[in-house]
Amino acid sequence: MAQAYLTRGKRKVNGSIQIKSAKNSILPIICSTVLQKNDCELILVPKIKDVEELLNVVGLLGITSERVNENLIIHSQNITYSSLDCDFAKNFRASIFLVGAMLTRFKQCEISLPGGCDIGKRNIDIHLDALASLGARYEIVQDVLIFNGKNMHSGVVELRYPSVGATINTIFASLELEGITTIINPAKEPEIKDLASFLNSLGYVIVGAGSKKISIYGRKIFPKPIAYKPIGDRIVAGTLLVLTTILGGEIMLSNIEQDSLEPVIFYLKKVGAKIAKYQNAIYLYSNAKLKPFKIVTGPFPQFPTDMQSIFISLALCCNGKSEIVEKVFEDRFKVVDEFKKFGACIKKRENSIIIEGKKSLNGATVRATDLRAGAGLVLTALTIEDSCEIENIEVIMRGYEDFDKILRTLGQDIKKN
Ligand code: UD1
Repeated sequence: MAQAYLTRGKRKVNGSIQIKSAKNSILPIICSTVLQKNDCELILVPKIKDVEELLNVVGLLGITSERVNENLIIHSQNITYSSLDCDFAKNFRASIFLVGAMLTRFKQCEISLPGGCDIGKRNIDIHLDALASLGARYEIVQDVLIFNGKNMHSGVVELRYPSVGATINTIFASLELEGITTIINPAKEPEIKDLASFLNSLGYVIVGAGSKKISIYGRKIFPKPIAYKPIGDRIVAGTLLVLTTILGGEIMLSNIEQDSLEPVIFYLKKVGAKIAKYQNAIYLYSNAKLKPFKIVTGPFPQFPTDMQSIFISLALCCNGKSEIVEKVFEDRFKVVDEFKKFGACIKKRENSIIIEGKKSLNGATVRATDLRAGAGLVLTALTIEDSCEIENIEVIMRGYEDFDKILRTLGQDIKKN
């Protein structure tokens, strides 16, 4: 049966939360276990749908996994080649990250064209051009991508846009090519740095992740068994910081690298939150008296698109008009119509919205349109005294573990029906 969250809002936030490992680090790391011949233990892995779905996809290659307490152990000893032309891969964008890893391990890959959140076209042309420039051949036959990697070689790959996924695929595809592969204009997201540091711990050599140029010194290795702790999830952390900012109160988050959250922290301070940073922890206090803002999303270190709809909730609580400009995904404002059901006054332009803050909002039943939009709707519901219902919460569970439970720990009135 479809589940929903039921809320009654206007309660202050108080509490501390340990942030689990970042979804966007774990997903490429799971894809890289295609290269493994041993066990890989990942620390503090949240129980979220995206992780479970990707484990189903790699399961088709013989990779198995088990959970031990908070950790995930992945066994790659019995891996064999298989086509990934299947619904699992089709329904899930991150499965495209498997292409580079499979080309390195098997010199071939057959995979359904990927799906993912409903937030725009999500092309893969940059992935395809990058892999082709390293000598991969491909064709698309009835929504299935078929790659041949027999003649691949190292080289210089210049990305016309710093796509996160294309950077991941290029790194994977070049790990064992003879010579040096250089990626110009790669994505600089913290999760790319994290992936490089994971692969370097396996014995690969990747230099420059997080900067304007990444170099991969190709070498054939036998990856060793490894236990690795990915970075904390900056989007989950950012969501809880916004929650506290709009409702007032205080929160302490542990296991979070501040550098990864810098663009978000910058704006939260600007609107009026008080923030103290400690080693791998962040404290935020807010009296909920907030100034309006303007943000423009972009590739890291610019403002993250994944925080954009959560900042709609912030804007609704600011004193005045705020503006959000979306420059990463062209169709990420579908959620605006859902916010309007709460009585929100939001004007949509081509790729930006103007949000009027401090209008009185009413209880309503709304539908989570995608993962982050869903989280944004929950936050706004928690600012409304009347009861609210958020439907289609399965999309929220793709990226937030026990969201309702965490919110209750922080003093909120929310339950799952
Ligand atoms: C990753 C993140 C996602 C985040 C996004 C941007 C994961 C699992 N997902 O997604 O949470 O929102 O980065 O920070 O890590 N594009 C093309 N052609 C391509 C590739 C991308 O046109 O070949 C476009 C996309 O349509 C989009 C933009 O580039 O408009 C950014 O995409 P990309 O950086 O590749 O995002 P993902 O890797 O899909």
